[in-house]
Amino acid sequence: MTFSREFDLGKEKVELTRQETGEIDFRPGLEGVPVTHSSICDVDGVQGKLTYRGYPIEELVAHSTFLETTYLLIWGELPSPQQLRDFEAEVQMHRRVSFRVRDMMKCFPATGHPMDALQCSAASLGLFYSRRAIDNPQYVYDAVIRLIAKIPTMVAAFQLIRKGQDPIQPRDDLAYSANFLYMLTEREQDPLAARIFDRCLILHAEHSLNASTFSARVTASTLTDPYAIVASAVGTLAGPLHGGANEDVLAMLEEIKTPECAGAYLADAIAKKRKIMGFGHREYRVKDPRASILQGLGEELFARFGRDQMYDLAIALEKEAISLLGPKGIYPNVDFYSGLVYRKLGIPRDLFTPVFAISRVAGWLAHWREQLGANRIFRPSQIYTGSKIRSWIPPEDRVRTLSS
Ligand code: COA
Repeated sequence: MTFSREFDLGKEKVELTRQETGEIDFRPGLEGVPVTHSSICDVDGVQGKLTYRGYPIEELVAHSTFLETTYLLIWGELPSPQQLRDFEAEVQMHRRVSFRVRDMMKCFPATGHPMDALQCSAASLGLFYSRRAIDNPQYVYDAVIRLIAKIPTMVAAFQLIRKGQDPIQPRDDLAYSANFLYMLTEREQDPLAARIFDRCLILHAEHSLNASTFSARVTASTLTDPYAIVASAVGTLAGPLHGGANEDVLAMLEEIKTPECAGAYLADAIAKKRKIMGFGHREYRVKDPRASILQGLGEELFARFGRDQMYDLAIALEKEAISLLGPKGIYPNVDFYSGLVYRKLGIPRDLFTPVFAISRVAGWLAHWREQLGANRIFRPSQIYTGSKIRSWIPPEDRVRTLSS
């Protein structure tokens, strides 16, 4: 029997479905159900606050770098200057990917989605580094370095390969983000563009138990290798309800065309129960703090490199949406402005989600380490709704039986 009831979640009343199964509450999508302890990241969806290891995201974006934040997320503390230099040097040393991985990528169809290419390439690393010594700290450290170092190279490589070109080798004189933009766009970018991109990576690096991180933890709980964990998380991130939303935001803005049309588009979408991409979040009941920061980064970019008309449209849409969706706690999420920033940085639209993965791999690996620290394999239960036990039917009897 199913019925609805209300219960307190944070400061609000949220209506969820409860399936009466003895003592067990059924919460679709595991909404509000804690499945682990974690000290990596805290999301306060009511206040709109996000911290990594206790540090406010605003401070990290202002002062840190993606590699320093990665170190913080994975090892729990900000690195000393020497630890950071060592970490950066090791990542730089491992940026190149084997020619065999590149050759494999050349066999991928050029029309395939870059997230699928990334998922295959990330998984393929497990073939090259197949020692599953996950209880050896050196193995864990090396795997972290390899994944952080090689994922951007693989994303950039597929972009060039699908255009019929050979991938560009990483440049040792360029820092992490500047090097990625160089490998992707084939030219060295303005330092401001590289710094803004690095800040975007910090913003996307971690967000507690979102779908891809949960997927990473489930996979990690089987004690498999980190390359399989990252491949599994990449597959989860690819969906339009998760990382894929920023591509859809731009498609939606193109469909709306002008700021004057924003109100009518929204009213029509809401009447037809269509979701507004880049809006809404399971955790936030206010504007996602990352959306506000990205908006600021976008404005810095537009001030330096020229305004994007689509940004004016996005602002108009947000204004209209706040009056219509705000009362339901639906506000812009991280994906609403990220596509506009990436577009200005010259990143092709179908690479927005792979770029998200470049960053989120830091969070996935932090959760991998944490999962290993207190592992218990994930194995939830289900509420069976299928047929009662019945007997197999010979093929000649099935039509009559099934149609009766
Ligand atoms: N536009 C319009 N309505 C929305 C909405 C959106 N973007 N997001 C949620 N809603 C509405 C739903 O229609 C539903 O309304 P109802 O109760 O009247 O039926 C209600 O809010 C709850 O939505 P639900 O999908 O159950 O919330 P959720 O917590 O499961 O979903 C998301 C969270 C992120 C999946 C959802 O907000 C969404 O699909 N957003 C668009 C995709 C997106 O931007 N994803 C990136 C997330 S970072």
